[in-house]
Amino acid sequence: MTKLGRLYSLFDTVTLPENLPYTQCSAWELQFLYLVGRHHLTGRDRIVELGSGGGGSTYALALGLSESPVFDRKTGRLHAYDFFRVGKGTFASEKFFDSGHRPEDDTSFLDDFKGRLEPFLPFLEIHAGDLWQTSDPEDTSPVEFLHIDIAKTARVFRCVSERFLTRMRPGTVVLHQDFAGPRLPWLHHSTGALLPYIEIAGPPIRSTLAFEVTKPIPADVLERITEDDYTVDEKLALISAVQERIDRDHTGGIPFKSVLELSKAYVAHYDGQHRRAWSIAKPLTSDEYLSRTRADHFEQLRKAYEKEPPGGSKLTRLLHKAVGR
Ligand SMILES: C[S@@+](CC[C@H](N)C(=O)[O-])C[C@H]1O[C@@H](n2cnc3c(N)ncnc32)[C@H](O)[C@@H]1O
Repeated sequence: MTKLGRLYSLFDTVTLPENLPYTQCSAWELQFLYLVGRHHLTGRDRIVELGSGGGGSTYALALGLSESPVFDRKTGRLHAYDFFRVGKGTFASEKFFDSGHRPEDDTSFLDDFKGRLEPFLPFLEIHAGDLWQTSDPEDTSPVEFLHIDIAKTARVFRCVSERFLTRMRPGTVVLHQDFAGPRLPWLHHSTGALLPYIEIAGPPIRSTLAFEVTKPIPADVLERITEDDYTVDEKLALISAVQERIDRDHTGGIPFKSVLELSKAYVAHYDGQHRRAWSIAKPLTSDEYLSRTRADHFEQLRKAYEKEPPGGSKLTRLLHKAVGR
């Protein structure tokens, strides 16, 4: 078991303040963030949160760091990245404002975020704006910790991979907060590609998969992940490899083998292979968890399939012809 895996036995020791900032993470995930900060991280290398939102997750992690016997508040830094504003394509919620909704004259909740994180501002470095602009392409400094709650699109995941995953070293800890999201298959097949170099800490904590890097990751693997340089079949095989490692989450509520199967349907869907996507998704409609929580996903995949002419869309047929499939 990695050192990270031992944190699972400490959940009972954590009592977080009642008045934490509004968060889209579960109490379990916040407790785990606290435990990582309190018992695992040192602050020697970069500690990074991608997608801080209103600051709930940031607060839990920062509280853990501030109570750590080894993290030095004077020299250690927690880097928080977010748009810190609402608007089209930001994936930020109006609930991140103190009032719970957007004021008429402002789209930014940065001041509200700063107010909530006030006790930790001395060691918090805030990067406000689009990640592609606020992250430094020249920065190759090692990253000790990554909380990834930002990669809602393939475009943003590319930035996460190019600018942050490439800075992982043995010992780096990664928490993928959206791992229960079937619409974000890049999280799943990239993890599959990393399996030879990482150790998964244990069952996901609700939606969060935690892993620790155990071996240096070859540059060409990271390049393929960044470039999305895998065929559909390769992606499906990589996701299958992850399915072999995880099952129900720590609380027993989320069946990850089924979630990852639906993620495979999205690999095919995003490739324009709607018939194939639906043939993967349809048998999952009888899955109790997925039918209860992901009805909209099935609807989307079924509709795309029904719109597709027999033999596939013109574009899909042309593409298949071009690559000889
Ligand atoms: C699910 S929310 C984060 C929730 C937060 N961790 C919590 O504890 O509630 C995702 C965040 O990602 C941010 N985000 C998405 N794409 C981004 C981008 N390209 N650049 C900066 N922030 C981005 C959004 O502004 C949003 O606040």
